[in-house]
Amino acid sequence: MCGIIGYVGRRPALPILMEGLRRLEYRGYDSAGIALADSGAVSVTKSAGRISVLEQQLDLEVAHTAGVGHTRWATHGAPTDINAHPHLDGSGRIAVIHNGIIENDRALRTYLERQGVQFTSETDTEVIAQLIGQFYDGNLEQAVRQALHEVTGTYGIAVICADEPDVIVAARQGSPLIIGVGQNEHLLASDAAAILAHTSQVIYLGDGEMARMTPDDLRLTTLDAIPVAKDVEEIEWSLEQIELAGYEHFMLKEICEQPSSLENCLRGRIDLREGTVHLGGLVDCSRELVRARRIIMTACGTAWHAALVGEYLFEDLARIPTETDYASEFRYRNPIIDDGTVVLAVSQSGETADTIAALTEAKRRGAMTLGVVNVVGSTLTRETDAGVYLHVGPEIGVASTKAFTGQVSVLALIACYLGRRKHMSPAAATQFIAALSQIPEQMSPLLEHVDHAKAVAQRYSGRDNWLYLGRGYNYPVALEGALKLKEISYIHAEGLPAAEMKHGPIALITEGMPVVVIATAGSQYDKMMSNISEVRSRGGSIIAIATDGDREIAKLAEHVLYVPDTLEPLQPLLTVIPLQLIAYHAAVLRGCNVDKPRNLAKSVTVE
Ligand code: F6R
Repeated sequence: MCGIIGYVGRRPALPILMEGLRRLEYRGYDSAGIALADSGAVSVTKSAGRISVLEQQLDLEVAHTAGVGHTRWATHGAPTDINAHPHLDGSGRIAVIHNGIIENDRALRTYLERQGVQFTSETDTEVIAQLIGQFYDGNLEQAVRQALHEVTGTYGIAVICADEPDVIVAARQGSPLIIGVGQNEHLLASDAAAILAHTSQVIYLGDGEMARMTPDDLRLTTLDAIPVAKDVEEIEWSLEQIELAGYEHFMLKEICEQPSSLENCLRGRIDLREGTVHLGGLVDCSRELVRARRIIMTACGTAWHAALVGEYLFEDLARIPTETDYASEFRYRNPIIDDGTVVLAVSQSGETADTIAALTEAKRRGAMTLGVVNVVGSTLTRETDAGVYLHVGPEIGVASTKAFTGQVSVLALIACYLGRRKHMSPAAATQFIAALSQIPEQMSPLLEHVDHAKAVAQRYSGRDNWLYLGRGYNYPVALEGALKLKEISYIHAEGLPAAEMKHGPIALITEGMPVVVIATAGSQYDKMMSNISEVRSRGGSIIAIATDGDREIAKLAEHVLYVPDTLEPLQPLLTVIPLQLIAYHAAVLRGCNVDKPRNLAKSVTVE
């Protein structure tokens, strides 16, 4: 949510900032703006709407060598030209961009107004700019430091000043910032994607830390001016991974990448001969983990659906009592954490505010904490005691797809890892991980033959209400299928454990209502067939996800989308794919902007 880019060096800053903003647009797309520093003035251009609207207003010829840019997802104040970042102080010489939320902005605004400050916007960010302006006395770093001591809340900020045109001052508290280190230049971004075209050498700023950047110098300190030493790290993602590569949308690209992203996720972690799983990130805590009496998984949205699959896997394979909690609920419901409780956070971005808050709460109560995260170096990875990366590559599409299959796979690996250390036999583990290692290959045909998913989308994309039903391991997949459809095509869809349908939602079923039923071979098959009959007898249209070779189901369903056979616990990795494709094609057919859905943005970094 919201994106930050900054550049200070010897090259013209504007093209670098604009390219960065385009790559960050998936983080927020309500409004955007740029500020460039020159000795004598700071020039700001900003506007509501997409980056392309901003671009039309810019003089692309200007040669300033320092500046900052921002793309916004509105929280405080409507997405208007005035509320767009950057925001200036009263003198017009200091410009600030900001991600996060300032909690005491009302009190600070009132205080500043009493000092005679006149505000031009409704944003909390302008409060920071005005505050810095009040403290500025010829030293930008010092003024930012003083201002931030007055502020409570979360922020990643970048500040420039007309009087120090080759300086950017940045600070972080709860909102990510990465410094890119180049030849006679420094870059700043909220997300590696924005700077990858220029450098892969980065420094991750920590909470409570500040940076003062010039072309040739970088000074890192705490908010209290204590020097901080940090290593320069290498971003492992490549530029190709964050480009469309011929696909129309990132979502489709990422759906289609799943065979290779899963191969990367599993690489080096499976030993078929020994029937063991190697997870380097858990080595130091494996003894404590095996002794866990209870695991609580916490996450949001799609990651929560993956965690729910994980709950079934952990109980099934490792026989450890496990529960899955929405991060936003966990942190406020006075959870019981005792010595034997491990809290495991699942997140693609590692920056989701609710998930971080839940994890912080778990730590405060003394739990051992683990992370299953995709983005290397993200906040969650630094807050947890241990963890396992997904290694599925960058996910740019706002609707999460390959992260879901990566999360389920990593949770399957952890479940097997723990199972082997408890009671699981080498033979059972070998069978499980052999089946898991076949999944990438089994996914490929599902992605090559997409006609059925397209046909379903064509037939039902005009219907405004859909139901998704599943049981056991496929119940979370039903939830995920419904979420995918609603978030990108704006069709109302509900996912349910199939048996719950008759406790109320069955009243929704009318003639021709699309009901997606995941009825793959396994322990739940007969029960799912009964549910299919219940839906049919009320006129619902069945779209079945079934196992290859199941001819029976074709007699009952309007459409059958087949998936290859695999072990029941691994079915979600295959059954989710047709559901991702149906959602994608329905959104395209309805003319929706698949990669930038209404009211959404990637990474929800506000609570
Ligand atoms: C849905 C989606 C969201 C995220 C959720 C958690 O397609 O992307 O529901 O799954 O906001 O995000 P992460 O995994 O980054 O914590």
